[in-house]
Amino acid sequence: MTDSTLKLGDKDYPVRKGSVGPEVVDIRKFYGQSGMFTYDPGFTSTASCESGLTYIDGDEGVLLHRGYPIDQLAEQSSFMEVAYLLLNGELPDQGELDKFTNTITRHTMLHEQLATFYRGFRRDAHPMAIMCGVVGALSAFYHDSTDISDPHQRMVASHRLIAKMPTIAAMAYKYSVGQPFLYPDNSLSYTGNFLRMTFGVPAEEYHVDPVIESAMDKIFILHADHEQNASTSTVRLAGSSGANPFACIAAGIACLWGPAHGGANEAALNMLREIGRPERIPEYIARAKNKDDPFRLMGFGHRVYKNFDPRAKVLSQAAADVLDKLGISDPVLDTARELEQIALKDDYFIEKKLYPNVDFYSGVILSAIGFPTTMFTVLFALARTVGWVAQWNEMISDPDQKIGRPRQLYTGPTQRDYVPVGQR
Ligand code: ACO
Repeated sequence: MTDSTLKLGDKDYPVRKGSVGPEVVDIRKFYGQSGMFTYDPGFTSTASCESGLTYIDGDEGVLLHRGYPIDQLAEQSSFMEVAYLLLNGELPDQGELDKFTNTITRHTMLHEQLATFYRGFRRDAHPMAIMCGVVGALSAFYHDSTDISDPHQRMVASHRLIAKMPTIAAMAYKYSVGQPFLYPDNSLSYTGNFLRMTFGVPAEEYHVDPVIESAMDKIFILHADHEQNASTSTVRLAGSSGANPFACIAAGIACLWGPAHGGANEAALNMLREIGRPERIPEYIARAKNKDDPFRLMGFGHRVYKNFDPRAKVLSQAAADVLDKLGISDPVLDTARELEQIALKDDYFIEKKLYPNVDFYSGVILSAIGFPTTMFTVLFALARTVGWVAQWNEMISDPDQKIGRPRQLYTGPTQRDYVPVGQR
């Protein structure tokens, strides 16, 4: 909807209003009319697309999926239901949910030859390296769902990705510890099945602990989508060229791996362990504030949230619940709570609006469940696959979609003549 215009130079540009959130200046004709580009590294002021999936108000600490607040979804919904919601736009009725869950459950097995693919990796490979490789390789195994112009094939590819990701992730873990791969068990929930494939062994029966299953499902919900973050934008950019969905999700996984994004929960837990005990916190706060020290408080700060990350609030409570129910007393949780309190009262963090983000507490829970830190980002990728495929589908169906092709402010040499090597 165009309500007003903004004058830039001597031209008026349309200003568009979303259903909620800041207005957006439509500058698509800006270069054609002014001969100038806009400069916005990191896209801090640039909307790259129109989307109806997820809304974030970073100042207020609000996160909505299709309008529903994340805390309500985390407390009352399930990951399967949130996946349906993100993909289809509305909450399912019981019949729709059962059908969707059944479809996902029946796509969890991997092509048998993919197991051979794993054996090509070193045993000490980081599981995210395996995820990038194996997910990218899916396009070599599922040719019949790579025609992106066919909505049915797009949906089949989306279901396959959501369904197979737990199997791929569990196999990455099993490979790293030298245990046999476990096939999926259709009698279990999406999350229960993942836990069994990860922690079960063929030698004995595995009982899914409902406390862990519920905490894990909550973590998956909290990571399902997050608007146009770096990895989602990567998926969209890769997809904008018409690349197949498996390749696009592999690109998203590669981006997510970085410590400023999905790698932060691994980094946050490592940092909390390094701090070790509350008495050492001031030393680390001082380092985080020191401009000459590259150290940052991992799990703190966010590009969009300038208030509490609403996901961190849910996870802070969930961490306490899981540790309590499992009867684990972890000094890392005490260190995390103390660090949070000290940082929230510190002028540096107050002025820069640095609050705990989703990664601050998730590592504490995942470690209590038994995951090694190298698996943390893998779990994030597993959950975020839902958001990635939903955003990718939205992009492909968008009539305004174009190949993503940013411009630049060129500061290199101007044209000069080539000099043969002997004359330089
Ligand atoms: N510790 C100490 N100082 C920080 C931190 C931190 N965690 N985060 C930001 N700052 C400071 C910066 O040094 C900078 O200071 P300056 O203005 O004096 O130069 C200021 O706050 C703004 O930081 P930017 O890096 O410019 O903010 P940006 O929006 O680009 O970065 C980011 C956001 C990458 C998340 C950053 O806060 C960070 O590195 N945090 C730690 C890593 C982390 O937890 N990442 C997880 C993000 S959530 C997710 O991906 C699910």
